[in-house]
Amino acid sequence: MRSSTIMAALGAALSVRAADIDFEGLPDTGLDTSAWTAGENPPIDDMVDANDFQFAAKNKLNGRRYAYYRTAALDEITYERNMHDWEKLRMNGFAFNDVSNLYKNTSILGYEFASPFFIAPAAKAGYTDDGAETNLVKAAGDENILYVPSISASLSIEEIGAAKRDGQIMFHQQYIWSDKDRLREELKRMEDSGFHAVFLTVDNTGVEGVRPRYDRYRTSGGTSHADDNTISAINELRQMTSLPIVPKGVKTAHDVKLCAELGFPAVYISNHGGRQVDLGPTAIEILLDLHRDYPEVFGQIEIYADGGVRHASHILALISLGVTAVGVGRPFYFANIYGQDGIAKLIDIFNTELDTTMKLMGEADIRGMRGNATFTNTKKVELDYFGAPLPNDISTSVYSIPEPLY
Ligand SMILES: *[C@@H]1O[C@H](CO)[C@@H](O)[C@H](O)[C@H]1NC(C)=O
Ligand SMILES: *[C@@H]1O[C@H](CO)[C@@H](O)[C@H](O)[C@H]1NC(C)=O
Repeated sequence: MRSSTIMAALGAALSVRAADIDFEGLPDTGLDTSAWTAGENPPIDDMVDANDFQFAAKNKLNGRRYAYYRTAALDEITYERNMHDWEKLRMNGFAFNDVSNLYKNTSILGYEFASPFFIAPAAKAGYTDDGAETNLVKAAGDENILYVPSISASLSIEEIGAAKRDGQIMFHQQYIWSDKDRLREELKRMEDSGFHAVFLTVDNTGVEGVRPRYDRYRTSGGTSHADDNTISAINELRQMTSLPIVPKGVKTAHDVKLCAELGFPAVYISNHGGRQVDLGPTAIEILLDLHRDYPEVFGQIEIYADGGVRHASHILALISLGVTAVGVGRPFYFANIYGQDGIAKLIDIFNTELDTTMKLMGEADIRGMRGNATFTNTKKVELDYFGAPLPNDISTSVYSIPEPLY
């Protein structure tokens, strides 16, 4: 029929509308989007860094789905701080060194991975590709990096576990549900599905953050997170599983120290991508607090961190401030619009950036950088955060990090 033919032609014309992307103030990579079609994947060859994948996902996904990943709490000040704190850093490189032997293998809870970064947990990888979390499992397995799926994944614990490569090590994220039977049962399923540790999110105390950018699309509310996260409640939870538990979402130096005292094997500094408390500090700021107030913890417990990591320079800055391994969240979930190929490409991009940056800084061995604050000048952060730079012996000394701790 003529009218439906016209409608179809009109639909086709609308669906090939050119992309019109708001770049959100992210760095200009010279990306030319003029030939992109809104609602479709741009050519993967256009992707040269982590920010490109965000633009590609924004082009591909509908507003609701993009907002689901991109959203952050309230005015998103913490999200912006995560993204921009790096600008205050000065990385120091040294010219007169032999950088022929590149080494960036990293031990995380005693398991050896090929790189010092890992794919952080985030919900619903199925919003970008039908392969959902299995794309991340397979690419991480091929490249020998750690992937930690979320309990709010699109696929089940069992489906994700079953996608593992031979010998692949994965941890699993978990929330502290108010329903303890559910909590116990899921921990058991993680053990049975071959996961080797649990990242226990401790910054959803009863609720999750108010996130306007996504909340406007919400159709249902409600939460089933526990709000009695006392030390005794956490200790009870630790009895529910034989897997090592790593508290994730720790946001003060005080709580990092407490985790060490409570005997956790590791702790994960994170402001949850700025999605929980707005105006909270960044990982760099919390690490500086630790160096000032509890420097001994670096020798007592493994520390992981995330937040706004988009380049190898960000990874290396956190490593030099004493972190064992660095989480990367949103970029991988954006890259999943290309499925496993997108994840593999982004892992390669981070690895290439690491190799080149380490060589150019004169330290090709990640172990020589870890806890070696000589590589990172944080004075501008200190000035802003403490009101004055820290004494030199606190901010630029070398921290003794036993390697590996487990
Ligand atoms: C680095 O770790 C990987 C496992 O992820 C292992 O296959 C490789 O042999 C290690 N390389 C070195 C130089 O130890
Ligand atoms: C820290 O890095 C500097 C600069 O490369 C190097 O001279 C020093 O030996 C390193 N310290 C440690 C403990 O690795």
